[in-house]
Amino acid sequence: EKGGFPHFMLKEIYEQPRTIIDCIRGRINPEGTDVILSGVRDHQDKFLKAGRIIIVACGTSWHAGLIGEHLIEELCRIPVEVEYASEFRYRNPVIRPNDIVITLSQSGETADTLAAVELARNSGAFIYGICNVIGSSIARATDSGSYIHVGPEIGVASTKAFTGQVTVLIMLALSVAKLKKSISPELYTTMLHDLQQIPQLMERVLKLDTEICDLAKIFTYAHNFIYLGRGYNYPVALEGALKLKEISYIHAEGYPAAEMKHGPIALIDSEMPVVAIATADSVYEKTISNIQEIKARRGKVIAIVTEGNEDVRKMVDYVIEIPRVDERLIPLVVSLPLQMLAYHIAVNKNRDVDRPRNLAKSVTVE
Ligand code: M6R
Repeated sequence: EKGGFPHFMLKEIYEQPRTIIDCIRGRINPEGTDVILSGVRDHQDKFLKAGRIIIVACGTSWHAGLIGEHLIEELCRIPVEVEYASEFRYRNPVIRPNDIVITLSQSGETADTLAAVELARNSGAFIYGICNVIGSSIARATDSGSYIHVGPEIGVASTKAFTGQVTVLIMLALSVAKLKKSISPELYTTMLHDLQQIPQLMERVLKLDTEICDLAKIFTYAHNFIYLGRGYNYPVALEGALKLKEISYIHAEGYPAAEMKHGPIALIDSEMPVVAIATADSVYEKTISNIQEIKARRGKVIAIVTEGNEDVRKMVDYVIEIPRVDERLIPLVVSLPLQMLAYHIAVNKNRDVDRPRNLAKSVTVE
């Protein structure tokens, strides 16, 4: 049932080129020029008059939500807030009737997320669910939504569900932006084109496995890790750190790169591995200065860059190259090496990768 892989997690990492195809199937027209989610099409008026979107989720799904915030604000010009379901539900939040609440949950059974949905329902807001498990409690409790269609995810560490959630959020942002005419036709075409390239770009990234396995050997005994990213890659840094901590039990923190100088940079010395995402995007130059700040304090930097970048190679200790893609889609590609790094480190440490201690696949207690 693991399809020849030693763990479900590795199988699920490798499934991603296929699960992205399943996720976009039927939502992009055969010519590849248009995308629409039926949940958006059937409730156009709600999205057109939305005053605000509130995204509620937990864990990895919350990280996907942060990427959704960036996408929806940039492309649809609707204000977005992202909330931990467990905080949202206990603080009597302001929810207006023309707000849309988007909830993300792989299992569709997370107790705090379900309670947040019920709270939002009572306020009269329109609720849109992005779930994986068909017919799950959260899917049933929402007014509309989209399944991510990535198939069962067995490993406790979420991998293919995360990239599926981000893919649905990209399609949702594109659908709404087109309705609102808030996106240029050029950007719409580029993003849609690049989205359809993602499965083959992921195939290329999966070929880095041996290289990442070697890198993992160097860092297996590290006690701490820092993950840095900015813009679209900031939530990816959070997710990379969560993957490492939950399956290897190494303490890891994700930070927006520029926040380091407001405190955490005090942690940097030659014993501190720092994974820095420095891909070709609108904040590249800024990220480079943050990497220089880390190197000046002798931190060990593993940089993830866009292929062909020689400048960063001269500056850092290790480099992982990923293919070039539109900035807004980078999270889909850059997440894979981070999943693989966490996986190999955890395997080296003999951890129970698919069933890490103290964790459950669906957190049905609050
Ligand atoms: O099923 P859900 O997406 O609602 O689960 C939310 C979190 O419990 C989940 O993403 C958790 O953080 C994962 N173990 C992370 O890999």
